[in-house]
Amino acid sequence: MTDTLLSVAGIGKRYGGLHAVRNLSFDLQRGEILGLLGPNGAGKTTAFNMIAGFVAPDQGRIVLNGRDITGQRPWEVCAAGLARTFQLSKPFGGMSARENLVVGALVKSRDRKQSEALADELLDFLGMSALRDIDADNLTAFERRKIELGRALSTGPSLLLMDEVVAGATPQEAMVMVDLIRKVRTRGVTVLIIEHVMKVIMGLSDRVIVMHLGELIADGVPAEVVAQPNVLKAYFGEDYVEAGA
Ligand SMILES: Nc1ncnc2c1ncn2[C@@H]1O[C@H](COP(=O)(O)OP(=O)(O)O)[C@@H](O)[C@H]1O
Ligand SMILES: [Mg+2]
Repeated sequence: MTDTLLSVAGIGKRYGGLHAVRNLSFDLQRGEILGLLGPNGAGKTTAFNMIAGFVAPDQGRIVLNGRDITGQRPWEVCAAGLARTFQLSKPFGGMSARENLVVGALVKSRDRKQSEALADELLDFLGMSALRDIDADNLTAFERRKIELGRALSTGPSLLLMDEVVAGATPQEAMVMVDLIRKVRTRGVTVLIIEHVMKVIMGLSDRVIVMHLGELIADGVPAEVVAQPNVLKAYFGEDYVEAGA
């Protein structure tokens, strides 16, 4: 039996003459880790922005938890159970790591004590308890990225959208992040992750979808999808596929 958490049906977005996303449709099952792949400029971030309410689609429909969220504002989409991280992480500076998480938790609970308890639990989850009082501005780029993940989780989402989580990370940091995302699923959170780095997404995703020039070009099991000629062509160009054939 399938249990659809997110349904994206024919969404599109144009910027002037450019179709950033064209007629994109896919479903996400509860408990799934779905990878969204595609070369730079494919339309991945624009697709995310539409799902998260940062950009209104020109057409199509987005349903989360049985609720039509098409064209809703980010805070409404957050209240419906979606949280996201950004390609460029931006925790609140001038606030400690812990305060960043407390603020997120307060969105849902309104109870200071409860929010602090959740923040502490999340710091532990992220392996950052020792850094709880450090100002977010003074954390390393990777620590800020983890705090951003924690902040997203602090809102108690059913769906987490992550955009290029290992951008700029060292290989070791990337492995830590991959482990964390696996653990996120065990918290009952479904994950949709954009990743430009194929290797990261291959070991993590149950299923991947691939975008190219605004359109969906593949949807399936990672190992099969990355062997598809149209996917190889999108990533490496025509010559690569012909030479390899
Ligand atoms: N706000 C915008 N205004 C104009 N063009 C945009 C805007 N956002 C994205 N684009 C264009 O849409 C296309 C898809 O961009 P994006 O969704 O960021 O791709 P990806 O995340 O896959 O790299 C690109 O050609 C990009 O330049
Ligand atoms: Mg992007």
